[in-house]
Amino acid sequence: MSNPQRRPFIAGNWKMNKTVGEALSLARELRGLVSMVRDRVEMAVAPPFTALHSVARALEGSNIALAAQSCHWEAFGAFTGEVSAPMLKEVGCSYVIIGHSERRQYFGETDETVNRRCQAVLKAGLVPIVCVGETLAEREAGRTLEVVSRQLKGGLAGFSPAELARFVVAYEPVWAIGTGRNATADQAQEVHAHIREQLVAAFGREAAEQVRIQYGGSVKPDNAGSLLSKPDVDGALVGGASLKASDFAAIVKAAG
Ligand code: 13P
Repeated sequence: MSNPQRRPFIAGNWKMNKTVGEALSLARELRGLVSMVRDRVEMAVAPPFTALHSVARALEGSNIALAAQSCHWEAFGAFTGEVSAPMLKEVGCSYVIIGHSERRQYFGETDETVNRRCQAVLKAGLVPIVCVGETLAEREAGRTLEVVSRQLKGGLAGFSPAELARFVVAYEPVWAIGTGRNATADQAQEVHAHIREQLVAAFGREAAEQVRIQYGGSVKPDNAGSLLSKPDVDGALVGGASLKASDFAAIVKAAG
């Protein structure tokens, strides 16, 4: 069973999908499907920047929070193409996904920039969802726990235990993202327990026990229940299946 101290948190990462019109349809459909879940499960969706404002209005008064997919570490300035944490706060976001493996792989995100972005997110009063995870080659070389430890150490350097307690961590093995090949519940639990141990060692047990650790990578309605039954799997960060309201709602129900 998941730890009752931590409320399950299911978030949908829409990535670079959905026009404003499509995003509104999805948000409205989802709102209807999950309204009965109420407070048992925390939920968020992360549309692309262009749809944040419209989706925020469509979700007003609902039990679904809004997340962004990244943000810059400065509050404003000459950073063409970037969006800042205070801007995301103003548009209605509560969370920001930081350090997703696609940003690390395609856009040069490093543990150091993850750290700087997290500082900006907290400063703006938002909650970072920090993504970590190994590639297939790293797993096959037996380096999974070492890689995840390094990403956590760099990404979370310098935060206080009180700050850490607000974080969400997402374990997303790169080989499981968009491949249809999810980590088994036991594989996920092994890494989640390791993440929790690392957090305990660096920040103390009280703070570490409050951090929700989501699993991400080919989460679907038919595997969510098994993954979420593990004691350190406190939720899911869902990609492909979050683009279909009925699938996302089924995953939410598996958590509640
Ligand atoms: P998929 O659920 O499509 O594998 O994506 C997972 C992910 O990257 C969520 O951030």
